[in-house]
Amino acid sequence: MFKPRSVAVIGASRTPKKIGYEIVRNLIEYKYPGKIYPVNPRATEILGLKCYRSVLDIPDEVDLAIISVPAKIVPQVLRECGAKGVKAVAVISAGFGEIGNIDLEREIVDIAKKNNMRLLGPNIFGLVYTPTRLNASFGPRDVLPGNIAFISQSGALGIALMGWTILEEIGLSAVVSVGNKADVDDADLLEFFAEDPNTKVILIYMEGVKHGRRFMEIARKVSKKKPIVVIKAGRSEKGAKAVASHTGSLAGSDVIYSVAFRQSGVLRAINFEEAFDWARSLSKLPPPKGESTIIITNGGGVGVLATDACEEYGVKLMDMSDDLMDAFRKYMPPFGSPKNPIDLTGQASEKDYRGAFEEALRDPRIHSIVLLYCETIITDPILLANELIDAYNSVKEKKPVVINFVGGEASDKAMKKLEQAGIPTYPTPERAVSALAALYRWARFAGYLD
Ligand code: ACO
Repeated sequence: MFKPRSVAVIGASRTPKKIGYEIVRNLIEYKYPGKIYPVNPRATEILGLKCYRSVLDIPDEVDLAIISVPAKIVPQVLRECGAKGVKAVAVISAGFGEIGNIDLEREIVDIAKKNNMRLLGPNIFGLVYTPTRLNASFGPRDVLPGNIAFISQSGALGIALMGWTILEEIGLSAVVSVGNKADVDDADLLEFFAEDPNTKVILIYMEGVKHGRRFMEIARKVSKKKPIVVIKAGRSEKGAKAVASHTGSLAGSDVIYSVAFRQSGVLRAINFEEAFDWARSLSKLPPPKGESTIIITNGGGVGVLATDACEEYGVKLMDMSDDLMDAFRKYMPPFGSPKNPIDLTGQASEKDYRGAFEEALRDPRIHSIVLLYCETIITDPILLANELIDAYNSVKEKKPVVINFVGGEASDKAMKKLEQAGIPTYPTPERAVSALAALYRWARFAGYLD
């Protein structure tokens, strides 16, 4: 499914803006290097590619078929895929279990099983796998390659978040729309991404789980290896009812989900902002070697906010020894504070920041760093970012660092630079600490910390 040598699009349309047309266009324009075979009995050519009347007429093996024809003809098309020896199918079409057509859904799963095909969907927007340049979706085209695999049970939200990740410059290894999960489900995908060297973090938007016990067992195993972040919607009573009419899933008791996730090491995020905040840190940072965190700041206020967040989210602030405080005193005026938070004060220069940051990066007693900066005209955010990147690159053995700059346009640009250099940045101190806390929770579960 993710590494096909050839893809057939069944229901490839001649009309721009129709789903079957846009999928072919995405495949071509995202530069899929394998063979693309449009299938449509009424067309001879689509987007410059020869079109086939049926999948059976394709003079080549077909690894993956994307099916975009009305629900009632999906069984027939699937039988033909089976006869052709297609290995995997993704059924875009809606009109199955989600509107009560349970028998039709069962029928397509039966056909897939009998023919040894795995079936993704139905009721999906497709799939993307950036390492093989496969964009077999009708979502945005320019998905940024990276190492977060994103699985979505919601179609529209999944598509919207694909666009949002491009805007936020978040790199993805995959986007998978699972829809009704009639065959391939979250647990199958967890198993695949656990072994996938291109994926570091798995992020799931989920409304319900069909085989709870299996999901938990697999999630527990996978979480030991790679972090799994889940946004489980339908937390409230009314939200659960909305889930039932959306994907037909049983949202189930929210408490049970929370406990099950905790027992399996799954990190539960409340919303997609939090989920992607965490995923960025989890995908970029190494696991911490211990629980001692320090905060470096030029502003007392953000230092206090970050301290509160550490307490709330379970990040342990280090008790500073005398020699460590002396080490940090070198980078601050006499009225600064070398306690934790380490306050370099508003007059801190780029060099002071660099000195303190390097000290923290090099001292093995410090296991992770929250670096905060409030924009002043004393310190240029871009120059500061350059110093910090330089210092970060100068140490061989990396430790987790999260950064928050508060300020205007220049701070924003500086944060982008840091992010591109591999250091996760956040627009508020609380979001930075929350991401570090997620890394700690995962590291504790996976056995990196005692
Ligand atoms: N084999 C191959 N192609 C065929 C066949 C066949 N047996 N029969 C017809 N076709 C062609 C049609 O001629 C048409 O091509 P054309 O436009 O060049 O004439 C093409 O296949 C598509 O068939 P249509 O009947 O025009 O169907 P349409 O494109 O309108 O709809 C679709 C098909 C998109 C699958 C629709 O039925 C559907 O389910 N839409 C919902 C999809 C969806 O929402 N997915 C859920 C997740 S995304 C989200 O929630 C945002």
